[in-house]
Amino acid sequence: MSRPLGITVSRHILDNQHLHPTATGDLSGLLIELIVAAKTINAEVNMAGLADILGMSGKTNIQGEMVQKLDDLANNTIKRRMARCGYICIMTSEEEEGVIPVVPGYEGKYTLAFDPLDGSSNIDVNVSIGTIFSIHRRRTQDGPGAISDLLLPGREQVAAGYIIYGSSTMLVFATGQGVQGFTLDPSVGEFYLSHPDIRIPEKSKYFSVNEGNTLYWEENMRRYVDYLKEEDKATDRPYSGRYIGSLVADFHRNLISGGIFLYPKDRKDPGKPGGKLRLLYEAAPLAFIVEEAGGRAITGDGREIRDVAPESLHQRVPLIIGSRHDVDMAEAFLLGRR
Ligand code: AHG
Ligand code: MN
Ligand code: MN
Repeated sequence: MSRPLGITVSRHILDNQHLHPTATGDLSGLLIELIVAAKTINAEVNMAGLADILGMSGKTNIQGEMVQKLDDLANNTIKRRMARCGYICIMTSEEEEGVIPVVPGYEGKYTLAFDPLDGSSNIDVNVSIGTIFSIHRRRTQDGPGAISDLLLPGREQVAAGYIIYGSSTMLVFATGQGVQGFTLDPSVGEFYLSHPDIRIPEKSKYFSVNEGNTLYWEENMRRYVDYLKEEDKATDRPYSGRYIGSLVADFHRNLISGGIFLYPKDRKDPGKPGGKLRLLYEAAPLAFIVEEAGGRAITGDGREIRDVAPESLHQRVPLIIGSRHDVDMAEAFLLGRR
């Protein structure tokens, strides 16, 4: 079978570099390095179930260590590669308490925040998981980056994206010129452009929320979900519930088919009054992508996700994200206007 002459992600990145008038190729280089790390993680994710079942140690990494837990392995894969890519000056990861420096002498003008493996509690049941990344331009001039180079509002992101390790492995990212989706051909090891200029449907009939938390929600949140469950053909109600428990998988489905995802603040865990999801490497990058695709992302208390000024690396934030009409409606309920 002759393979279609697909556009590889490297070709797409290089062909579109001219759209950024000040392009130096550094952002392209950063993305290409990140994609190599993602392919490595993809190979390990596909192996993980096997290793678990057969008790295999799986591969050993370059330090001769046995394969670690997948979160740690994904984290180390990205850290090691990006620490010496030459395009970033500092990193932060969900798996590390503090900032992650780059190798001295390899400092670049960008910063990287990432969730190396999102939804990792689902790996043992073979449910889609993912990697999420967010890229900012540093504010400090040179040398090692500072934490202030990471604590920037999502509005200032220069790029954001995710890889979803699902029935097929896809890379979805935006650099300010719309949202592009690529599918991995594992036999070639190349990502090919499969979903050019993704637009999220304006309105949907799917909602994604963990209803096990209903008891802990504020009254307005309960009223909104009850509204979605009422019958009214004119407004496609009742909506269908879809909740995978991997943010990347729930978000990706909504991006392609339309939908609203909600992880609001709840009273379930006093340690997490502001919701469960993290701003820097979960909410902000997905907010960048959804806005580039015509959707919207809010906190539910009157703020856009991309306007929230981070105060700490692992700051949590309530997240309501998806089709614009649905997010507008949710916000009206949450602010008591309906
Ligand atoms: P992570 O695996 O990176 O910690 O993220 C898990 C998150 C997110 O993927 C998902 O939307 C959410 O946890 C599910 O939380 P609940 O199990 O509380 O619904
Ligand atoms: Mn996560
Ligand atoms: Mn994670």
